[in-house]
Amino acid sequence: MSDVLVVDGLDVTFDRHRVLADLSLRVRAGEILGVIGETGSGKTTLARAVVGAAPVRAGRITFDGTDLTALRGPALRAWRRTGQVQYVFQDPLRALDPQHTVARIVAEGLTVAGVLDRTAIDAKVTAALVQVGLDPALADRLPGQISGGQRQRVLLARAVALDPRLLLCDEPVSALDASNRNHVLRLLADLRDRAGVTVVVISHDLSSLAGIADRVAVLYGGRLVEQGPIERVLSEPRHPYTALLTASAPSVRREHPIPARALRPAPEHTPAAAFGAGACPYAPRCPFATPACVTAPPTTGDAWQVACHHAGAWRAQLAAGAR
Ligand SMILES: Nc1ncnc2c1ncn2[C@@H]1O[C@H](COP(=O)(O)OP(=O)(O)OP(=O)(O)O)[C@@H](O)[C@H]1O
Ligand SMILES: [Mg+2]
Repeated sequence: MSDVLVVDGLDVTFDRHRVLADLSLRVRAGEILGVIGETGSGKTTLARAVVGAAPVRAGRITFDGTDLTALRGPALRAWRRTGQVQYVFQDPLRALDPQHTVARIVAEGLTVAGVLDRTAIDAKVTAALVQVGLDPALADRLPGQISGGQRQRVLLARAVALDPRLLLCDEPVSALDASNRNHVLRLLADLRDRAGVTVVVISHDLSSLAGIADRVAVLYGGRLVEQGPIERVLSEPRHPYTALLTASAPSVRREHPIPARALRPAPEHTPAAAFGAGACPYAPRCPFATPACVTAPPTTGDAWQVACHHAGAWRAQLAAGAR
């Protein structure tokens, strides 16, 4: 499977706050990649950087050979008009203009992309609404007149109307009830299976990714700490932070013998003040941290998918009852 999106050494800094640090990851054509991490870990910033809406200080983002970070002015606008990469916002209420009807919202991208024929636009809007499971009769409603689940799908419809090749969905189900949530997740899997769309799903909730993602990338403090096939990561997480996430989510836990309390930070071992900016970001909370974790940040390579100096080894330590 070829890589369709390549993020290489990405650094994003807001004012003087470094939000993403030396982040590299690849998204393969036709897969669903889950991106997980706690609030503030940089998930939204990563997606925004891909669509040119975050201040990239260093690194490169390449989509199918096009260096997106090098695009400026007319070249950037021309690229956006192709609609190949679509970002579905985290917060539907804020992302939707309350004065615009559903039809107008879904048609927005099409107009920008240069589709001017009214009949063609109407047909595409109806098809997109049906595709995301919405009744086309909702086309005349305003965002305030439909439910949260419907608003989420309107955002998705706006994106799929453009036939994107890559869809970045930011917390697409976190505000939804169980039935809407399953529907949206199935829809994303359908887009991958039937239309070959590559999908990145951002979530702070592992259970929503477990059923649909092919691979998962784990962010902590703006760095990638682990990535791999989701089943493998769920059944044998190698980074202590990923292990804590899986241990805290019983519904997705596979055969996981480690109790969450064993993975929780032990303050006496990990005084936060001892850890500097060049350290592993998880070191201040990690019960397995040693001086090596503060002298240099571990990095993930292509083959090595865990950024932890003690990847795997901490398991033996736990098993031996050392802690
Ligand atoms: N426009 C901005 N200006 C300044 N700081 C920002 C901006 N956008 C994000 N940040 C900071 O960057 C960090 C990462 O934010 P981001 O929104 O990417 O996190 P997230 O992983 O998406 O969190 P959540 O799960 O809450 O959505 C946070 O500390 C946030 O305060
Ligand atoms: Mg976010």
